[in-house]
Order: sequence, then structure tokens, then C-alpha cells
Amino acid sequence: MSKKAELHYNGKVYEVPVVIGTENENAIDISKLRGKSGLITLDRGFKNTGSCESAITFLDGEEGVLRYRGYSIEELAEKSTFLEVAFLLIYSELPTREELDAFTKDISEHSLVHEDVRSILDGFPSKAHPMGVLSSLVSSLTAFYPKSLDPNRSVEQINGTVIRAIAKLPTLAAWSYKNRVRQPIVYPKNNLSYSANFMQMMFALPTTDYVVSPVITKAIDKLLILHADHEQNCSTSTVRVVGSSHASLYASVSAGIAALWGPLHGGANQAVIEMLEAIRIDGGDVDKYVAKAKDKDDAFRLMGFGHRVYKSFDPRATIIKKAADDVLKELNINDPVLEIAKRLEEVALDDDYFKSRNLYPNVDFYSGIIYRALGIPTDMFTVMFALGRLPGWIAQWKEMRENHEPIGRPRQVYTGSKERKYVPIESR
Ligand code: CMC
Repeated sequence: MSKKAELHYNGKVYEVPVVIGTENENAIDISKLRGKSGLITLDRGFKNTGSCESAITFLDGEEGVLRYRGYSIEELAEKSTFLEVAFLLIYSELPTREELDAFTKDISEHSLVHEDVRSILDGFPSKAHPMGVLSSLVSSLTAFYPKSLDPNRSVEQINGTVIRAIAKLPTLAAWSYKNRVRQPIVYPKNNLSYSANFMQMMFALPTTDYVVSPVITKAIDKLLILHADHEQNCSTSTVRVVGSSHASLYASVSAGIAALWGPLHGGANQAVIEMLEAIRIDGGDVDKYVAKAKDKDDAFRLMGFGHRVYKSFDPRATIIKKAADDVLKELNINDPVLEIAKRLEEVALDDDYFKSRNLYPNVDFYSGIIYRALGIPTDMFTVMFALGRLPGWIAQWKEMRENHEPIGRPRQVYTGSKERKYVPIESR
């Protein structure tokens, strides 16, 4: 039997349907409320608003649960590969061996980008942040594939756009780094795995051979899996809203990259390492920084702490913390900021301010430490997040289009001036 909720307002009772998800999440559907009552809902930052029904990712923030298409993040991180997870997110099921082989082949055969992209890249100053460069280059793909702009494309044609996006993002990402360090770009190698190919495009030089260690590719693959989707976060909501106007996949993903860049979202991984480094240089006094984070008159926040939806722990952070320990041990690296990170976590988790607000380390707290150990430069950390998040953005964009969702267009409560008469400039 369908459930309903009642809203009592101005002496009238309005019934609103309740939508129940497969994991028993309950939502009141207010989409017709304004027509009946004149009321809209106000929810700054969408803290309590569902923007869609989605069958991709389940997240229980109270219990620290994250599942892609029903599979736990712990199992996927342990047993699968990034391309397997990408297939799962985009096509709803884990691939068979034949399906995965065909998918992998398709992706490796589209990894080259048009040579003219090089001249766009050359136009960026070397100081350009790689996230800005990446967002622009992804948007530029619309120029090389103008048919991708057609909102009425067939399933096969959309699939071609999807494959190209996954195939070309590592190339564009690595080239945005090569532009930063003014080194010659390196072309993709189709006989390498997705992660190994990305690493060789980042670090190979014409002067030396670059052999990617399996420890490194395994760690990169795991990090990409952990970032692959996270339901309706800021960048994914951006991708869905931009795509809801029937903008192309490339334009929507480019907007998603821009949204991810900010330090409150994906940019936190860069901000965490910069914060830990600053604490180290300042003598390693973590108590001082915990006190700063608690001080309402100080803008400083503990980067990598807190989350909009996780209120017990972030399951990705648990996996990444262990992976950071393992990777540093395997690579025989002793990074002093890992010790600072652990001390900071210990102090914060024992502090009432953090406990009462349910602030725990999030995915970004330890990921930067692994990236650093793998030789990834700090301003490429958020690019790594974008590489991982791409299949999620694609799956969400596709789902939104396949469900024929309406254009994303919130309302507002206007708080400006009432109507007033125009005053000519001479009389002001
Ligand atoms: N350090 C100190 N205080 C904090 C922090 C922090 N990192 N995060 C939240 N608070 C406090 C905040 O001041 C507020 O206190 P009060 O209730 O006294 O005003 C309370 O906790 C609730 O915070 P909020 O800002 O209202 O919560 P939100 O859900 O709007 O923001 C957040 C979530 C992730 C933006 C925020 O916790 C934050 O800024 N964290 C640091 C940046 C970060 O690590 N971002 C990465 C998120 S995970 C990766 C991803 O984006 O997917």
C-alpha cells in the first residue's frame, strides 16, 4: 500500500506521497506541493533533499556503508579492477570475461586524442592548474566529436561517446601534467593496463625507460575504485544538472571536473597534504591545529575531516588508511606527514568538538599520502580523483537521460527589494 505524509498549513491538510527505496529510505515527494498549496521547500545546500531516484550507488552515512550496484566497496576494492567497476557502474552488472575483454579493448583503442589537442595544450601557461586544463580539454572534445552534441543519439552512439571519455581522460590528465612541467607529452600504450598506461604517460621521458611497478598500478587501481561513484555529491549533481539541459556528456563531465576542484570537495586531497606539510614545517604541534580548527574566529578547518553524509565513519577512509600503510611499507618510504596525519586523527577523534559534530577522517585524509608515495605531484591529486570519478559521472548522466528526467531548475525564496520605479542617473 502506498504511504502518504500530511502537511498541515493555514488550516488545510495537504497529502504528499512517500517514496520508499529498496534499502527502505523514505522520501516525501513534494513535486506537486506548490501547485496545491503555494508552498515550496527551502533547503540550503540541499542538506535534506533527494534530487532523483537512482539505482547506482547506495550509501548509509550513519552505518558507514557504501555499495556500487549492491556490491560492497570493501569487496570491490579488494577483488576487482577499475575497468570492471567502471563497467558495473555504467552497464549495471559485473562483466563476464568476454564483456570485460571487449570493453578493455575498446577503451585501449580509443586512448589517442586528436593531434590538434596539443596546440590547445600549448596555449596554457605552465602555471595553469591541471584541473582547469583538464576541464577545458574535456570540454574541447565536443569540438572534435560534434555529433556528441546531438541529444537524440542512439544507444550505440552514446556508448561510443562513453568509451571515448573513459579512454581519453588518462591521456588528457597526463598531458595536463606534462604541460605543467614543460616536458614532451607521452602517447598512450595500448598493451598496458589502464593504470599502468596512465603512469607511463605521466612519468616516461624520451631519455629513459619507464617501467611501472605492479605495487604502484595496484594501488592506483584501488584508489580509482574507491573514488568511482558517491551518489549525489557536488560534482555528480553538477553533471546531472548540466546534462538535464541535454548538454553533451563531455560538456557535463567538464562541469563536473570544475565542481570537483574546490577544496571542500575533491580539492580537499591537495589541501590535506598542504595542511600536513604546514604542520610539519611549523614543528608538528597537532594540538595547536586542532585548537585552530575549533576556533570560530579562525577560518582554518581540518581538511580531510567531516562529511555531509557520513556520520560515523567513511568506509573509503578506512580502506585507504590501511592501503597507505601497506604502500609506504612496500615502497620502503618513511613519510613524516603520515605520522602527523595519524597523530592529528588520534587527537581529533578524542576531542568533544569533533565527536559531538560527528567529524571523522574522510576519503581525502589519507589518499594524498599514497599519491605522494607513488610520486604523483600534489596539484595532480584532484585530477586522480576526477579519473576515478569518471565512471560514476557517466553512469549518473546516462541514468538521468534514460529516465527522461526534467531539466534541473530549483526555485528560490526571493529576499530582495519590492518593485520600485527606475530613477534616472541625474536624480540618484
Ligand atoms: N574542521 C573543523 N570543523 C568542521 C569541519 C572541519 N573539517 N567540518 C565541519 N566542521 C564543523 C562546522 O564548523 C560546523 O560546526 P557548527 O555546527 O558549530 O557550526 C559543523 O562541523 C557542521 O559542518 P558543516 O560545514 O555545516 O557541514 P557540511 O555538511 O555543510 O560540510 C564538509 C561538509 C565536508 C564540506 C565539511 O565537513 C568540510 O569543510 N570538511 C573539510 C573539507 C573536506 O575534507 N572535504 C572533503 C569531503 S570528502 C570528499 C568528497 O567531496 O567527496
